[in-house]
Amino acid sequence: MSSRPIQSSDGPVEVPVPAKVTVPKLLARKGKQPPITCITAYDFPSARLVDEAGFDVLLVGDSMANVVLGHASTLKITLEQIISATRAVRRAADRPLVVADMPYGSFHLGVHDTVRNAIRLVREGGAHAVKLEGGASRAHLVAALVEADVPVMGHVGLLPQAVHVRGGFRVAGRTREGAERLLADALALEEAGAFAVVLEGVPAPVAAGITRRLRVPTIGIGAGPDCDGQILVFHDVVGLNFGPVPRFAKRFGAVADEMRRALGAFRDEVRNGTFPGEEHGYSMGESLAEGWEAEAPQPWAEPGDEA
Ligand code: KIV
Repeated sequence: MSSRPIQSSDGPVEVPVPAKVTVPKLLARKGKQPPITCITAYDFPSARLVDEAGFDVLLVGDSMANVVLGHASTLKITLEQIISATRAVRRAADRPLVVADMPYGSFHLGVHDTVRNAIRLVREGGAHAVKLEGGASRAHLVAALVEADVPVMGHVGLLPQAVHVRGGFRVAGRTREGAERLLADALALEEAGAFAVVLEGVPAPVAAGITRRLRVPTIGIGAGPDCDGQILVFHDVVGLNFGPVPRFAKRFGAVADEMRRALGAFRDEVRNGTFPGEEHGYSMGESLAEGWEAEAPQPWAEPGDEA
């Protein structure tokens, strides 16, 4: 096992880097404990922290539109933005399987366009796999991507990209008919070759039933404890979210509070002259040390101004 240095509170320490997560390794985790751990990340520092924490799957989600770019929906984010974020994430993350979300509009114009866009995510972004929203009606796209050697993660249930069609962010599978449609959607994606299916905003017993029926792992978000894995949005987990936090998200930290403290301390030290200290500066070359006038006249100063 290789190792790499990480910054701990006691300074840099070498930690082992466990073997990379691959699609076959994830498939082998179906029905096993511990559950598969997944989280989103959208840039170098967050991806590095996710890697250090040992997550199995890192999703460059289109939720970046909300939590990074401040949009009210995910519909605004472009393929170029996801490619750029995926590149940064891949520079930071060695171990997890990196899945890039196919944004709204990138798989809606036909099979050819979908495959071309997914290949851009793999080739230009460095993604190991892609994710796209939708059930049976998207199965032919999943099959075409798998045929083009692009591993696909499906996504059914609450579909943020369908916000206008559904009239909001709607929990799915609350009725018998809805639950059966959801199961049919998940089975269609599996049949088309998806290596995993995200179940978002689904009643726990329905998600548990779908998980039992599928041969590929299910990854839950607001879908109860019986899925094969769980995913949450990075900013919700660490407490760096300024918008509404969904009911299913749990905050495990208060990073925004720590950032506020650091920013306030920097501002105050600038204002009171404590920062920068001598240790943050550079010495002059000897030839310059004599004859450089720090106390030079200030032609811009009004008469009577303090120097
Ligand atoms: O974009 C995203 O963060 C997602 C997860 C909620 C699964 O699609």
